[in-house]
Amino acid sequence: MEASAEVNQRIARITAHLHPSNLQMEENSSLRAANCRAKGGAPGFKVAILGASGGIGQPLAMLMKINPLVSVLHLYDVVNSPGVTADISHMDTGAVVRGFLGQPQLESALTGMDLVIIPAGVPRKPGMTRDDLFNINAGIVKTLCEGIAKCCPNAIVNLISNPVNSTVPIAAEVFKKSGTYDPKRLLGVTMLDVVRANTFVAEVLGLDPREVDVPVVGGHSGVTILPLLSQVKPPCTLTKEESEYLTNRIQNGGTEVVEAKAGAGSATLSMVILCSFCDLLDIELQIFIRANKEN
Ligand SMILES: NC(=O)c1ccc[n+]([C@@H]2O[C@H](COP(=O)([O-])OP(=O)(O)OC[C@H]3O[C@@H](n4cnc5c(N)ncnc54)[C@H](O)[C@@H]3O)[C@@H](O)[C@H]2O)c1
Repeated sequence: MEASAEVNQRIARITAHLHPSNLQMEENSSLRAANCRAKGGAPGFKVAILGASGGIGQPLAMLMKINPLVSVLHLYDVVNSPGVTADISHMDTGAVVRGFLGQPQLESALTGMDLVIIPAGVPRKPGMTRDDLFNINAGIVKTLCEGIAKCCPNAIVNLISNPVNSTVPIAAEVFKKSGTYDPKRLLGVTMLDVVRANTFVAEVLGLDPREVDVPVVGGHSGVTILPLLSQVKPPCTLTKEESEYLTNRIQNGGTEVVEAKAGAGSATLSMVILCSFCDLLDIELQIFIRANKEN
């Protein structure tokens, strides 16, 4: 390839990363969309993050950009997504990154996606329960899920926005109404309860948390979080006091962080959720691959 053609292609690639809607190239130019990697031609999963500029969204975008299973990454938010997109797109990994800002660009952000992750909405502040977020986040999740039903009805949907106990049923109703509901493809992200349970139980037992596996069932709010302490692996015996202490700490782990971080002006719980999310994503993508092979 001639040097100038190579330079042109490189410029086209950068332009398409940052301005996907400007993919229409000059008729007689060598900068054709078909030549541009940012079209999303590489094999892999197409992932959209809705709420990508937030405390969860930004580090999550970074993790998706690093994940070798991801070929296209769409970052959507109602604020700041161009800046986040520019920043993430400079990482030297294969996934193509495109930014989308505001409601008019929601459909473009969603079209063709295999996996949609939703951390959009408001987080808790000290003194709030996850239920206090319902009034604002319910409407946000409803609108975003209507977009998913229309633009990528077969995508796996991960709901992070709280209260997860309520946002998942809202999403289910939206998908049922549009005839696209598949319970195997709609997941509330609650893995951080498992991560916390493993850490806290390991502390009590004096073990490495990586060797401890605590099943947690139920929901993702206070007493609905049910750690099954009789089923811990490796098998162990906990006293009544230890069980009560652990149950209480696991159920209120989120509140512990919200209150501890209040002085720092941030109520974000991003670190634990992201730690848990990597495992979850790999499992989901494997399920996705298997389901598609079976179909
Ligand atoms: N499921 C879990 O395990 C878990 C863990 C931590 C936080 N959360 C929840 O995740 C949510 C996000 O937390 P955060 O700390 O990132 O909050 P944040 O305020 O830092 O970020 C939220 C982002 O959502 C965006 N947003 C708001 N309305 C939107 C809309 N209509 N469309 C698209 N984006 C929109 C905001 O602009 C912001 O960038 C909260 O509801 C929080 O409670 C869940």
